[in-house]
Amino acid sequence: MAMKFAYWLLVIAGAAAGVYVDEPLLYDTFPPDFIWAAATSAHQIEGGWDADGKGLNIWDVYTTNSSVVLDGSTGQTACNSYYFYQKDVNALQSLGVSHYRFSISWARVLPNGIGEVNQPGVDYYKRLIAALKAANIEPMVTLYHWDLPQALEDMGGWLNPSIADWFEEYARLCYTEFGNDVKIWITINEPWVVAYQGYGSGINAPGKYGPGTYTYQSGHNLILAHARAYRLYESEFKPTQQGKAGITLNINWYDPKDNQTSSQEAAERAMQFLGGWFANPIFGDGGYPAVMRQKVDEKSAAQGYNPSRLPVFTAEEKLLVQGSSDFFGLNYYTGSLTIEKIQDISIVDYGADQDIEASYDPAWYGSGSGWLKITPFGMRNTLKWIRDRFNNPDIIVTENGFSDNAGNLDDLMRVYYYKHNINNVLKAIKTDGVKVIGYAAWSLMDNYEWGSGYTQKFGIFSVDFATADLNRTVKASGRYYAQLIRDNGFTVDQPCNNYPIY
Ligand SMILES: *[C@@H]1O[C@H](CO)[C@@H](O)[C@H](O)[C@H]1NC(C)=O
Ligand SMILES: *[C@@H]1O[C@H](CO)[C@@H](O)[C@H](O)[C@H]1NC(C)=O
Ligand SMILES: *[C@@H]1O[C@H](CO)[C@@H](O)[C@H](O)[C@H]1NC(C)=O
Repeated sequence: MAMKFAYWLLVIAGAAAGVYVDEPLLYDTFPPDFIWAAATSAHQIEGGWDADGKGLNIWDVYTTNSSVVLDGSTGQTACNSYYFYQKDVNALQSLGVSHYRFSISWARVLPNGIGEVNQPGVDYYKRLIAALKAANIEPMVTLYHWDLPQALEDMGGWLNPSIADWFEEYARLCYTEFGNDVKIWITINEPWVVAYQGYGSGINAPGKYGPGTYTYQSGHNLILAHARAYRLYESEFKPTQQGKAGITLNINWYDPKDNQTSSQEAAERAMQFLGGWFANPIFGDGGYPAVMRQKVDEKSAAQGYNPSRLPVFTAEEKLLVQGSSDFFGLNYYTGSLTIEKIQDISIVDYGADQDIEASYDPAWYGSGSGWLKITPFGMRNTLKWIRDRFNNPDIIVTENGFSDNAGNLDDLMRVYYYKHNINNVLKAIKTDGVKVIGYAAWSLMDNYEWGSGYTQKFGIFSVDFATADLNRTVKASGRYYAQLIRDNGFTVDQPCNNYPIY
């Protein structure tokens, strides 16, 4: 009785708040040939950090200081996929995915980043791709998922404009060696993280600090390097290999916290600083977003920076960059609430440049990561945001996923996360006409979560880190995802749709 009373109180409170009531699911199917994938990245899973001639990357070096990682761990062994890749392929096969999104370790194939090729490294990816093909799974390959060869960092890394040449050389090697089998290429994963967290706040490798300067310089070089790799593919490989190449951006949803115009403008500004920064040059008019241009130019002038801290594309660079992606790769995880907050003019920081304040609604479900709340409505809103601002491009959701700290197999919150996020992808397609052509769950398995080490687990498979076998075991979320893939969408009688049965 007491419980029932409490239950009704909850329902009434929920109904009053509106957005916290679960949305009804849309029962419908995804388009035929929809890409269903699971995703990983090289440094997070491969291990074999010094095997067979691999060069050091910036994460190998950065994490020699154990204080920069929450549990002091490294990716030296991780899931040991360099040796155990067949276990990954078996896991993927049991899910029934059409594609596997993985990344190539630049320093494994080019130990110094440029120059001498490491043949055993090339052979590793050939073995992996052959195993995938044998399992009827297509590779979707990321060239750069944050693991820059240290030799290139020693020459300035992403701050050195020559990186466009270096990246093109690396891309050429990959297209040449693997391009007959790889039909979807992702040049760079989340340039925002590289630019702001790698060279700005410095909380990721290589840990450089220049939050209002290096951030924009490295961002500029990331865009140009991406475009060079795309144009190389377009002109020399696409005509015969017939694949697609694109970039993946991380965009989380900023909702206005209230109905004030200033909050609505702040939310849009935050979306432009996060997503538009890279999307507008590539998918939009070829330059940085107008609001970003205005804010950073004004603040730079007031702070005595001349020229602006935000670089400018030359006419030639605009031609190179604009239209340099066959699809829009989106990594979506979470949302936040936004108001305007004018920052002190003395602060030279990409974050302060935005004049916003973001927060989370305490009612949102949390995860094993402080930044990750469960906000499935943000998935659909972000997809519509991309549709409206960048001329309705083909979109691949290249990452979406949920962390916990326990790593339990009975991971009902992750089931909930996938159910409602994927259903919002379906609504975006069916109701809003967004052209989503694929979806990848992050991640295939628990792995090395960068500065959080092994404390945050995103897998739909668990990895038995307690034994050297590192066996992979499916979680409830993996079973749920496999069922969604089998049905190619949501059917009313699907196990787990109304109440999880695991
Ligand atoms: C290691 O990292 C910590 C935390 O960032 C830093 O305070 C310390 O100076 C670093 N140590 C070395 C030797 O670089
Ligand atoms: C904004 O106003 C609309 C219409 O009055 C209302 O439905 C909505 O809940 C308001 N949003 C916020 C965040 O207050
Ligand atoms: C890992 O899996 C293999 C193959 O199923 C099995 O032979 C082995 O005993 C497992 N290792 C552990 C530690 O459970």
